[in-house]
Amino acid sequence: MSNTLDLARQKLTLALDVPDLNAAQEIAGLVAPHVGRIKLGTVILEANGTPQVIEAMHRIGVLNVFVDLKWHNTPDVVAKTVASVTRMNVGMINVHALGGVKMMRAAKDAAMQTWEEAGRNVRCPLVIAVTILTSQDYDDLAEIGVVPLFEHNGPDAIEIKKHKMEALVVSLARAAQKAGLDGAVASVHEALPIRNACGPKFRIVTPGIRPAGADKTDQKRLDTPANAIKAESDELVVGSPIYKDPNPAEAAERIVREIAEALGTHCGCEKTPA
Ligand code: C5P
Repeated sequence: MSNTLDLARQKLTLALDVPDLNAAQEIAGLVAPHVGRIKLGTVILEANGTPQVIEAMHRIGVLNVFVDLKWHNTPDVVAKTVASVTRMNVGMINVHALGGVKMMRAAKDAAMQTWEEAGRNVRCPLVIAVTILTSQDYDDLAEIGVVPLFEHNGPDAIEIKKHKMEALVVSLARAAQKAGLDGAVASVHEALPIRNACGPKFRIVTPGIRPAGADKTDQKRLDTPANAIKAESDELVVGSPIYKDPNPAEAAERIVREIAEALGTHCGCEKTPA
């Protein structure tokens, strides 16, 4: 069981969406032994500066950070940005798949080239693509014209919309794979279709995870840790249920136990994490 617990911890990523750097360092220090990676996004990085936050995490021994800035820009601008962040020695970065194959390829190439230029003395960050945010559903995409409005209101409407979302997310994940990226971010609902389309080596990162009884906040396509494992997610991203808890380490460990239990049931999913 202890190996399964270790594996479960490697599969859990804390989304550290708190703006105060001191509070963030305290939470990170408490939670780091219970998770595989800590994700730093706009909330903390914009308030304190990306290099400063990464350095602060490194100082307390948190080395495997995921810089989640979801870049979506011209290929050249994304490449230069990726080079700067790769020099800061991070474990994972991401771009929006909607930025296109050329942009994604430029991001991956820049990460590899910078890593080589640094004499491989920094990590070569995994580069993954955001498909569709888990806070958005079909109707949100229809509202901005990304998918056609869906007038049909029959009993099967929800199912049809779910399938259309799935097809869109899978095609974005395939595009990321074609560009040489290491994986994609998607909701649990799309994880298995991505696994089937992209194979066992493609890293599937799933936010929108809520343990039983947790607050939904602004997420729409939510699911449980057990279902994420069943859907062959490699990495489960959980934020508020951990950092808002008065005892974040214990909250993380509760989720670890849910993951471990699911790994025990779906032992075919036990893969070595990156
Ligand atoms: O607090 P919560 O568990 O909802 O946090 C989820 C995290 O996952 C947030 O940091 C959010 O930015 C991130 N996220 C993501 N990609 C998505 C949806 C959410 O990185 N598609």
